[in-house]
Amino acid sequence: MKLEAVILPKELKIKVRLVVVMNAGELKKKYFDFFKSKGHAVIPSASLIPSNDASVLFNTAGMQPLVPFLLGQKHPLGKRLVSLQKCLRTVDFDNIGDNIHHTFFQMLGNWSLGDYFKKEAITWSFEFLTDSKWLNISIKRLAVTVYEGDKIVPRDEESYTLWRSLGVPEKRVAFLGKDNFWIAGETGPCGPSSEIFYWTGIGEAPEVFDPNDNNWVEIWNDVFMSYNKLDDGHVAPLIQKNVDTGMGLERTLAILNGKKSAYETDLFSAIIDEIESISGKKYGENLREMRIIADHIRAIVFVLGDENVVLPSNVDRGYILRRLIRRAARYGKMLGVQNLFLKRLAEVVVLEYYVMYPELGKNAERIYSELQKEEEKFQLTLEKGLHEFDRMVSQGLISGVNAFLLFQSYGFPLEMTEELAREKGLNVDLKGFNIEFEKHQELSRAGAEKKFKGGLGEVNEQTIKYHTATHLLAEALRRIISKEIKQRGSNITPERLRFDFNFDRKLTLEEIKKVEDEVNRVIGLELAVKREEMDLEKALKRGAQAEFGVKYPPKVSVYFIGDYSKEVCGGPHVENTKQIGKFKIVKEESVAAGIRRIKAVVE
Ligand code: SER
Repeated sequence: MKLEAVILPKELKIKVRLVVVMNAGELKKKYFDFFKSKGHAVIPSASLIPSNDASVLFNTAGMQPLVPFLLGQKHPLGKRLVSLQKCLRTVDFDNIGDNIHHTFFQMLGNWSLGDYFKKEAITWSFEFLTDSKWLNISIKRLAVTVYEGDKIVPRDEESYTLWRSLGVPEKRVAFLGKDNFWIAGETGPCGPSSEIFYWTGIGEAPEVFDPNDNNWVEIWNDVFMSYNKLDDGHVAPLIQKNVDTGMGLERTLAILNGKKSAYETDLFSAIIDEIESISGKKYGENLREMRIIADHIRAIVFVLGDENVVLPSNVDRGYILRRLIRRAARYGKMLGVQNLFLKRLAEVVVLEYYVMYPELGKNAERIYSELQKEEEKFQLTLEKGLHEFDRMVSQGLISGVNAFLLFQSYGFPLEMTEELAREKGLNVDLKGFNIEFEKHQELSRAGAEKKFKGGLGEVNEQTIKYHTATHLLAEALRRIISKEIKQRGSNITPERLRFDFNFDRKLTLEEIKKVEDEVNRVIGLELAVKREEMDLEKALKRGAQAEFGVKYPPKVSVYFIGDYSKEVCGGPHVENTKQIGKFKIVKEESVAAGIRRIKAVVE
């Protein structure tokens, strides 16, 4: 083990950095050396922006740039590859500040493109982690999971036997279900996985591994990619058996240094030092705020410094970037920082990372100037916006009109207003916000006299059909696209239904088709629609869906469509799904950040 003190360049004050057992560069080098010794070729990190996948805004795993090769295309560097890939995930946004989640992170990975399979992958993972020449982690602190199997993919006895033969005790192996079947999105290369966990708790690890105990932290995932999930949901064997592994650099570095989180390693220490010095506050007393700023500034620098240009804006990647910048600025304010400070922090990030990621050095000017512009713009309104928000708080709910005012006049991303509201124990009326948003769009499109029509305008045979179809659509989206989907707004006319929901990317044509087919399938089941009155609490306990952000009375009607859907709703509805007719989605579009809109008709 090498003990090292790193000196920062002069212009950033001379500081002797923390002494670490292993730094990020050393871990990367060891990983590469190990896999090179096993015949792997090093490939550079791809851009954060996916080049062949329009369905994700950023690369979220090391395998994404390799999809064509996992599907069978020949890679110019051969069948064994190793890399450190830049990744960015926004699904963990609300967890940032804890020990293990990061917006931007780096994934070490090794791949077999139709070459070696389970035996080598597992044996090498184990050797790299435990051998004294490599990471020298005690086996006593490790546990693993393997796939329990399903109707198509058998239980992974081979991996189980391999781990056991390497000395992992029976009680430290857990067979798990869908958590151990890995796929990047809805379709594409996939397969059973075997994950390796490290005990971060105090004292010795318990004899029996409990995957639900948060002290066990996942550090490495070996995926045996031998299947391809097709657009029709069918899981077919791939023409080649691949291995895709991913080891979180941040997490592994933390445990190697005996730290609870990567914020206490060389990856973040200079950034945290600078935040302490700018704010005059201590990290230990302001953990969450400083971690959020440190996490976000790193993500901001890597997005702004990417080889593909992304600038702050109100759509897609630009909006994620804007949210990161504005949230970091607000957290700075919470720490009492009065002046612009993000550019200064960005300089630290660039200095820390440009050797490993030369694009940051190359694009440094763009990073600083764009960041400065965006922070300056927000600085002009942040303080006033916060005063406005405080004034609004007394009203008990942040109305749609107010949330839209904060968005439009003070530049508060909706998610920021939601976070501010949560801190006060309040909700934001998202439906109202969407109405305001739309009203504004329509007004600016068609002139001030054009009136916005909201809600269920009139009740007739056709609108009743649309009302039931809306419930089926919502449930189909949850089943086919994501179980996190909730209604964020609905509007019905005799001509069409319109349904808004939370989801952060465009649906693919295949997904739209699948959702449409699912609604028609359920219509064809001729399910009876029943209404029951019950206490709101009971309805929610029974799993009835309710629109996010809407205040319901204590007693509500719940509509049951067979046992397919249950939803709190005032109705009215058809008596049987067969009355609806044929359902067709005519449009899918973005309506606000993280909110999608579907328009559909019945024929
Ligand atoms: N693709 C897998 C993951 O992201 C292994 O790299 O966990």
